[in-house]
Amino acid sequence: MGGNPGLNSDARLYFPATERNREPIAAGLEPLLPAQGLVLEIASGSGEHLCFFQQRFARSHPGLRWQGSDPDASHRASLASWRQQLGLTAMAPPLNLDASHSAWPELTEAPALVLCINMIHIAPWAACQGLLAQTARLLAPGAALVLYGPFLEGAVATSDSNRAFDASLRQRDQRWGIRSLGAVEQEARAQGLLLDGRWPMPAHNLLVCFRRS
Ligand SMILES: C[S@@+](CC[C@H](N)C(=O)[O-])C[C@H]1O[C@@H](n2cnc3c(N)ncnc32)[C@H](O)[C@@H]1O
Repeated sequence: MGGNPGLNSDARLYFPATERNREPIAAGLEPLLPAQGLVLEIASGSGEHLCFFQQRFARSHPGLRWQGSDPDASHRASLASWRQQLGLTAMAPPLNLDASHSAWPELTEAPALVLCINMIHIAPWAACQGLLAQTARLLAPGAALVLYGPFLEGAVATSDSNRAFDASLRQRDQRWGIRSLGAVEQEARAQGLLLDGRWPMPAHNLLVCFRRS
């Protein structure tokens, strides 16, 4: 007995979707990555993505540092556990960060890129608004905010699977739902983030890049 019971416990969570989408996301992310600086992930979830990206880009982008975050304590514990198990010491411990809060925790350095995967449809619109406003405040001109997930687009027919997913999200919480890319773009522009590209991804998702003007 004795010692800290949490220190060596395995809190790793496994989110099955991450195994399917991590490689396509990494391939889309690669040309958007800066050569150096901090990559801040919002809504890291289990932490599997961030650990995978850090390992995948360790040789091609040795100047990057990685910072995860999530408002859910069990998710932060999972990321910390993955980080420890994989020996990813270049990654800072996860931050308790709720995108909808007006005051985000202090960062050790301004991020060179902000990444947010599968969050804005599964949180109130205020989380998307906060993400855009705070990211715009943190990023230097030209730096990128990269979003991944399902979006509604006026000119693109919504797939049956996304239509059903949207309905199930709204049933779980009426404040949730797949966002219109046009609405996100409008909100982003108001904050000084301009749409720089959108790339179709598997399973009717998009990778979307905004840049600080
Ligand atoms: C569907 S999970 C996605 C997790 C991970 N990015 C992935 O793709 O596996 C949604 C995540 O968003 C986080 N989240 C929910 N509301 C949030 C908010 N207001 N700010 C930041 N993260 C939030 C949840 O805690 C959860 O980890």
